[in-house]
Parts: sequence; structure tokens; C-alpha cells
Amino acid sequence: MNEDRTHVLIVHQDPAAEEGAYDDLPGVVVLAEVMGYERAVEEADYQSPDVVLVVAAGDVEATRRLVEALAGEPHSLPVVVVSPTYQPSTVTRYLAAGARNVVPAGDAGALALALTGASRPLKSRRPSRRGRIFTVYSGKGGVGKTTLAANLAAALSVVTTGKVAVVDLDLSFGDVHFQMCGTDLKARTTIHDLVSLPQLEPDQVERAMISAHRCPVRILSAVGDPEKTEDVGAREVREVLQALKSHYDYVVVDTPSNFDDRTLEALEMAGVVLLVAAPDVPTVAKTSISLASMQKLGYSENKVRLVLNRADTGVGARRVEEALAYRVWAQIPSDGRVVLRAVNEGVPFVLTAPRSRAARAVTAMALQLAHPADVRKPARRLRLNLGGAR
Ligand SMILES: Nc1ncnc2c1ncn2[C@@H]1O[C@H](COP(=O)(O)OP(=O)(O)OP(=O)(O)O)[C@@H](O)[C@H]1O
Ligand SMILES: [Mg+2]
Repeated sequence: MNEDRTHVLIVHQDPAAEEGAYDDLPGVVVLAEVMGYERAVEEADYQSPDVVLVVAAGDVEATRRLVEALAGEPHSLPVVVVSPTYQPSTVTRYLAAGARNVVPAGDAGALALALTGASRPLKSRRPSRRGRIFTVYSGKGGVGKTTLAANLAAALSVVTTGKVAVVDLDLSFGDVHFQMCGTDLKARTTIHDLVSLPQLEPDQVERAMISAHRCPVRILSAVGDPEKTEDVGAREVREVLQALKSHYDYVVVDTPSNFDDRTLEALEMAGVVLLVAAPDVPTVAKTSISLASMQKLGYSENKVRLVLNRADTGVGARRVEEALAYRVWAQIPSDGRVVLRAVNEGVPFVLTAPRSRAARAVTAMALQLAHPADVRKPARRLRLNLGGAR
């Protein structure tokens, strides 16, 4: 990243706000745009921007509260507000809530100056971030959750410099370890080894993780014994994910298809939920139920990303979007030969066949989900893709 530019997180509230409207401000790099105030603080914690730009909409009190939350303890972030109504009473309220500056809408020059002026001094920029959880879920079995979780984790380890972990919450039947370590793994530690401990120390968590083949991903594997899965409850899931979040930059969680307390905990703690669907009628129907549940939980479209696996089979992405009234965020093509071969080798296809269409789709997802500060230069990525072209 270019260190002498100001890295800005933009927060909108108005769904009609034009994405990319602030992309060309001099001296400014837009890290991400968040729609909806409710996710702004979490996103700011994750992105660790130099400045947060809050685009005020009609609700002055909601904007004031957001400014207070971002600028106050414990986040203490520099905040600049763009306000369509530039009345002294409104400006004063934002400044009293901790905004560094309030700029009238439409004045790009003043805004660029305000953002670069409000930026934290270089040496105090970007304190250590907390990791981000990506939970892969579907209400339907066999749609490709584990395939996506394993390949996304591997792709993140290739395209970023971040530390990557995968957690297998399909406690009885999970097979992430097969997909990432092959079948020659004799004994393995599991999440069950952690839940009996009185306190989760970092080195204990690390000792319970197993290493993936051919990429630096660490795996917390499933219990594998249906009689023991009851010992892992929602509280244990929360504690384990919290511990992993403080040691890893990216934690990918694979889940079973049931919506139990443990899965719910992993969904709640996720920065992003990857809701996997396939373009067939029964899967779309179940996806509709899952989406409704997540909307009831208050999850925004920014949190729940719909991934259409085997997108080139069945009814097509447009029809799925119409049926669900929800945008398909990413599509993975069907590629039985590449996927099966990778599964049998126990190495994700993003490594064994990086140029395949499926691998390119998952790698593009990893790049979108990665923090911009972590993304490796393309040449370095190629060298890490030890499998070579296919
Ligand atoms: N894009 C794809 N192209 C071809 N085959 C695929 C693709 N995605 C998944 N598969 C295959 O579909 C099957 C189911 O995939 P996977 O095990 O990832 O699904 P799942 O949702 O995790 O299933 P479960 O609910 O049983 O845990 C596997 O045989 C896998 O290899
Ligand atoms: Mg699975």
C-alpha cells in the first residue's frame, strides 16, 4: 500500500448512494465502502482506516450516534462527515460527537483536504487488526460448502500475507482435513481437544491445529465422533473462534447444514457469511429460508454474500436472483474433473489447478474478501502456486 496516502473507509446509510463516488479524491485511497451504519464499527475495526468518512443521510441523530461510536473509546478513529444539510446546528452536533471535520456535500476539494488533514500521523496508523471470520453456510447438504471453505482458505493463503485458519464445525462428519491434508493423516487433533481445557491459551490452540498440505493454512478439524460432539456447545464455539480471531488474520468456518446454536454462533461472529446455493429448485427454496432467517437476525447484504456454486448448470444466476430477490455475489462454475481430482489428492484445486475456471472464481472471491493491506503482488502469488498451470 502507498503509505503516504490517506486510507479511508466510507460509510453510507442511503441505499441510493452512488458507489465509487469518492474514488478519485487526490491523496486518498478508498479501502472499502460500507452500506448501513450498523456494520460500520466492526468494519472500521477490521479495516483500520486512517480516516472514516461518514456520508450523512436524512437522520441526523443516527449519524451523530455513529460518529460518537467511531470517534469515542475504544475505537478513537478520526471521522469526517459529509453532510447534505450544512446548517450550523447540525454541524455542531457532529463536531460535538467527535467528528474532526464536517464538509458540505459536493465539494470534492474541501473533502480531500479534510480527509488528509484528519488522518492519523503515519507512525500511529493501522494498529494490529483483529482477524476476520468468514462462515460458509447452506441450509442444503452437498452444495459445496466444504469445497468452498477449503479452497477459499487456500486461496487466501496464496493471495495475501495473512495467517489463515479453517475451522470444521461439521463436528460429526466434517471432512475439511481430507480436502486439505489427504487421507494419509493418521492421528489428528480436533476441536474436542480444546473444549475440556479450563482456559484457552494461544499455544494450546496452536497445538490443536493441523497443517494443510502445500499451503500455510492451519486446520482445526472436526470431532469425527458423533458421541463426543455434544461436548462442543455454542459457548465453546464462541471461545475457540474468539481465540483464533486474535491469532489469525482470516478464519474460514465450514458448517453443517443444520441451523443449530453452534452454527448460529459462527454466523453471528462472522464478518461475512458466504451463503452457498446451487441453481436447482430445491436448493433455491432452502436458500430462501436461510436468507429469511438471516434477514430476521438483522444481517445486511454486506454481511451475507450469496455464492452460486455450479453456476453454469441448472436455472442460471439471473433466475436465482429473481427467485430470491437477492444479488448473487459470486459464481463458481461446475468442474467435476478438477474438483474430484483435487479432493482425491487432498489438495485444494486453487493449488492443483490454479488456472481452472473454478480456481479463478474462488481466487477472485479471496481477493475481494482480503484486506487490501495484506494482498500480495501477483508475481509472488504465482510463485506460491506450486502446482503450476493446468
Ligand atoms: N464447483 C463444483 N464442481 C464440481 N463438483 C463440485 C463443485 N463443488 C462441489 N462439488 C462436489 O460436490 C460434492 C459436495 O461438495 P461438498 O462436500 O463441498 O458439499 P457440502 O455442502 O460441504 O456437503 P455436506 O453438506 O455433506 O457437508 C463433492 O463431491 C464435491 O467434490
Ligand atoms: Mg461439508
